[in-house]
Amino acid sequence: MFYPLVAGAILVGGALGSDPASPPPPVDNSFNVSTCPGYSLHSLSETDSGLTARLNLAGPACNAFGVDVVDLTIEVNYETETRLHVHIFDTADSQFTIPETVIPRPNASSSNTASKSDLVFNYDPSPFAFWITRRSAPYNTPLFDTRLSSLPATPIAPVMAGDPLTALDGFPLVFENQYLQLASALPLGANVYGLGEVIASSGIRRDVGTDGGVGTIQTNWARDIQDPINQNMYGIHPIYMEHRFNSTTDTSQSHGVFLFNANGADILLLTPPNANVSLVEYRLLGGTLDLYFFSGPTPLAVMEQYSEVIGTPTWQPLWGFGFHLCRWGYTSVNETREVVAKMRAADIPLEVMWNDIDLYHAFRDFTTDPIHFPADEMRDFIHELRQNNQHFIPIVDAAIGKATNNTDFYDPYLKGAELDVFIKNPDGTEYIGQVWPGYTVFPDWFAPNTLHWWTEALKNWSALGVEFSGIWLDMNEASSFCDYSCGTGIDISNTSMQFLLPGDPGNPITDYPEGYNSTISGPSGNVTVNGTLTYGATASPLSTLSKRGIGAGNQTGVDLNTPPYTIYNGFTGLSNHTLATNATHAGGYRELDTHNLFGLMEAMTTHKALKTVLQGQRPFIISRSAFASAGKWAGHWLGDNYSLWEYMYYSIQGILQHQMFQIPFVGTDTCGFQGNTDEELCNRWMQLAAFTPFYRNHNQRGAMSQEPFVWDSVANASRTAIAVRYAMLPYWYSLFANASMQGTPPVRALFWEFPDEPELFAVDRQFLIGRDILVTPVLTPNVSSVDGIFPGRGKTVWRDWYTHEVLNATSGANTTLAAPLGHINVHVRDGAAILLHQTPAYTVEETRQGDFSLLVTQSVDGHAFGTAFIDDGVSDPPGPSTIVTIQASMDTVNISSSGAFHIVQKLAEMTILGVTQRPAAVLVGGQVKNFTYAASQQKLVASGLSVDLNLGTTIEWK
Ligand code: NOJ
Repeated sequence: MFYPLVAGAILVGGALGSDPASPPPPVDNSFNVSTCPGYSLHSLSETDSGLTARLNLAGPACNAFGVDVVDLTIEVNYETETRLHVHIFDTADSQFTIPETVIPRPNASSSNTASKSDLVFNYDPSPFAFWITRRSAPYNTPLFDTRLSSLPATPIAPVMAGDPLTALDGFPLVFENQYLQLASALPLGANVYGLGEVIASSGIRRDVGTDGGVGTIQTNWARDIQDPINQNMYGIHPIYMEHRFNSTTDTSQSHGVFLFNANGADILLLTPPNANVSLVEYRLLGGTLDLYFFSGPTPLAVMEQYSEVIGTPTWQPLWGFGFHLCRWGYTSVNETREVVAKMRAADIPLEVMWNDIDLYHAFRDFTTDPIHFPADEMRDFIHELRQNNQHFIPIVDAAIGKATNNTDFYDPYLKGAELDVFIKNPDGTEYIGQVWPGYTVFPDWFAPNTLHWWTEALKNWSALGVEFSGIWLDMNEASSFCDYSCGTGIDISNTSMQFLLPGDPGNPITDYPEGYNSTISGPSGNVTVNGTLTYGATASPLSTLSKRGIGAGNQTGVDLNTPPYTIYNGFTGLSNHTLATNATHAGGYRELDTHNLFGLMEAMTTHKALKTVLQGQRPFIISRSAFASAGKWAGHWLGDNYSLWEYMYYSIQGILQHQMFQIPFVGTDTCGFQGNTDEELCNRWMQLAAFTPFYRNHNQRGAMSQEPFVWDSVANASRTAIAVRYAMLPYWYSLFANASMQGTPPVRALFWEFPDEPELFAVDRQFLIGRDILVTPVLTPNVSSVDGIFPGRGKTVWRDWYTHEVLNATSGANTTLAAPLGHINVHVRDGAAILLHQTPAYTVEETRQGDFSLLVTQSVDGHAFGTAFIDDGVSDPPGPSTIVTIQASMDTVNISSSGAFHIVQKLAEMTILGVTQRPAAVLVGGQVKNFTYAASQQKLVASGLSVDLNLGTTIEWK
């Protein structure tokens, strides 16, 4: 959330008042890095599992953007068969490295040796350069290759006006105290995915540029900014995956590269002029060159291997998969309660009700507004929710309001000051910023007492009446409205907001919904009326849319405030709209090094706190800012998007990115946050988001209401989609169990499942849930059909989810599907066996108490396979579980179970698709059962069953 000091952006007639795509201002990074001497290797010592050596500066220092480090160490470790670790660091260990307490280093297999590794480290000693190859390589090109001295030292086209970008004048290894540079060759036009968080105009496949152009600058500097395009934003994830396709053999291999470095950085993807390669180039403001390589060779394997380094995602409670409703601007507990009642009256399932900062007294964390949200009433309200198997989640902002005088007893501040848990200025005084409550301090997640203090604050809030089931972490980049610290000796009693909030008198959200056309829709402004498309035909076409060094904390001669190299931070100055880079943490760490870790550390601390406050229950946390490994502690939402069709499309790439980043529990503000949505957009979006992990409708203060009951057509569309979602809960839950156990991403880009089909490599308007469910949403207005590609090149059978009809799909190209408003296309892959809830109910708990059904889609040879992971859905650490395995052959489905969780609900119904002939009899566990058969869909249904899933059974037809 970035608010300019003047009143907020006003949208008129669909035009954006503040352009989310405007580039950051130009920077001056003039220096000819090709004059830097590089390094030469000596003192090599090799072992079975790797090597160590020293690297000496190979000539006079160039001191490009800092001071060259003369003496480096390189350690190479073959950590597992699929993972190679290359770490180049200053031998003196004074550069910043991510502390083990924040992200512990992964275990390496003690028995792994270089000879067993999929990957090979190769090097030239002088000038030092290295390259990584596959041991058995069908491709000759290395996966990573820093031998770039032969590349022409020709400047490439400036990325932005006024930017000389002369740092691209050469590609030697540069290792300075405030600037590190390493570049590697990629195949020309490589398929690169990941690096984020970002909304990339290129889609999920990142732009590597063409002939002399920079395609991507991914800047690692966490930033509170309302969903810009191609700029740094809330989270930082320095991992990319490259997917290589061999058109001679029609096969592919993927690998991954993770930079274990939290410092500010630019990661560029570019193609030098007249070169036969593209490049990835790292430009770091500090830390060390710490790279992990993953051999894949499939996309899913790369992601699983990444999870072995940073940790697998946290277990989500089952209720977290229900529908969540929120807005900034529910002004009282009564209004919040009314919304819950209206959802019930409209029979639209509501699992979790949220409150934003309206809940607070004086915008302060851990309080309730005594007039509008009295604590006792909040308790009653939350109890009502709980009696109905529903939940409540409040927001927690990162900044803590500073008590204004000595009669202002704001306990979280006073206690925090006493326990010394706040970030400091370099002189040891309290660092003061400014957020909603006025002047604020910020928790120092490195301080020894912070976890205790944070736990107490959350516990007290719950005891007061806010009996939350989970926590929403906002503004944790961290956001501050003062550029640099607000200073010392300021008048802290001034708590007035320095700008108008959206929706305040003088700052209304007056924009028309994107598709509004007054000549067609009339002055009422409703674009779509109860399912009839009235979107203006003349509207303009839309886009198709162990502590090593503590870094700057103990280094001398470091420019803390303005590092010599300017990264492409959208706010330019590193200290703008956030904590200043000289802010000081316990242990001597400086914000300059640790800025990108704030959100991760807040999520980790909150996760640990909730384990105490909600003992035995899985912490449910959604955090706006994140860094690699944040998924171990929390989920994520994609921030302040816009109520625009384009942003509904962007939500898919955001969700796919975060699968790679190992934060699979992710979602977007459904129907759009900023600006006013409309019926048609909200209708489509409520349906799309029902097929994404975190499903929450959230809205800006002052914008038109957008709860799903506001329009009849949206209510209908939501009921339909939520029913499908709740039927699929056992499938979702099993996918997330696999993610938590081995890092397999639940939501998948199409090519992750079909890696040898190049026509899928850029597809991000469709996605798969797990292996089996393909979603083809409508992402444009005023249409009643949608194009989608169906992977498998004609060899995979896709069946319509609702009708079970086989889709007559075009091989390797788009197929047009009917998509009237209120209908989202969902297809199921052949070879699937999916356990479902037979009767979706109002809440997840009521749904779960009902019986199961089973959907089996046989492939042509009769095969189908699936598993379902079942446990109590809430306990932490996870308690006993049972895995149900379903396996089909030509005329049999076998169900077996293993595990200690007792499944009470029975399997009541079974649908088998792909049965080519009407059978004479169907036997379940040897007993003859009634069945129906529909020849046109090759569909056999046996119902009225009562199969005990703990025991399993066999279903045969003859
Ligand atoms: C910024 C968040 O991104 C948004 O979701 C929230 O509504 C506002 N802060 C107000 O708390």
